[in-house]
Amino acid sequence: MAESGEANPALDRPTLVDPALVDPVAVALTWLPGNDEADRPQITLSTVSPDGWPDARTVLLSSAGPEGFCFHTDAHSRKAAHLRADPRAVITVLWPGFTRQLVVAGHADPVSAEALASAYLARSPYLQQLASQNTAEFAQLPKDERRRRWAAFAAETGEEFAQPANWAGFVIRPTRLTFWQGNPDTASERREYTRTGDGWALERLPG
Ligand SMILES: Cc1cc2nc3c(=O)[nH]c(=O)nc-3n(C[C@H](O)[C@H](O)[C@H](O)COP(=O)(O)O)c2cc1C
Repeated sequence: MAESGEANPALDRPTLVDPALVDPVAVALTWLPGNDEADRPQITLSTVSPDGWPDARTVLLSSAGPEGFCFHTDAHSRKAAHLRADPRAVITVLWPGFTRQLVVAGHADPVSAEALASAYLARSPYLQQLASQNTAEFAQLPKDERRRRWAAFAAETGEEFAQPANWAGFVIRPTRLTFWQGNPDTASERREYTRTGDGWALERLPG
């Protein structure tokens, strides 16, 4: 992701003085790279385990739009199990150089079959193969055997890796967005938008 320049729509737009006029998801989209950019943002995805522990890991932000923020994973993964039991999730996006941070809290829903298929096709061949082979059983194998099976799978399948049944995707539908902006010449600032029915409430926060 490119480092931020001087202009910062989330913080500088005059419309922000009236939160009723602002769609913070649209503002977030101006911060994030376009969905067709191959270099996807690495984000921290936080979930809650069934016994109440927080958990976090890095995933790629597959896409973002008015409906929410999408990532993809293995349906058998711990994060997928967490979200099936408790759809509350938080993603944190960090920009290089301490310039910006975006934190989005919301509820994660499975994406449609159509969206799942198109996100799979957008993944690199390496990530497509990973989606098929990165199983619990594979993880137990010695490295040489993993290399052998990896090469054998690619040789058998060719360049086209069929979408595996365990390929899963979630869209986080935001209920709160927090924009953080660093300022070299004064304190950093945050603006937090919280869903209120069909609008958003804005709060300015320190930190
Ligand atoms: C840079 C980076 C990007 C990653 N992207 C993904 C991703 O898009 N989807 C995914 O399931 N795991 C991704 N991972 C692996 C996860 O961080 C994690 O180790 C894995 O999904 C298992 O997490 P879980 O046991 O909490 O479900 C990525 C890891 C790194 C370091």
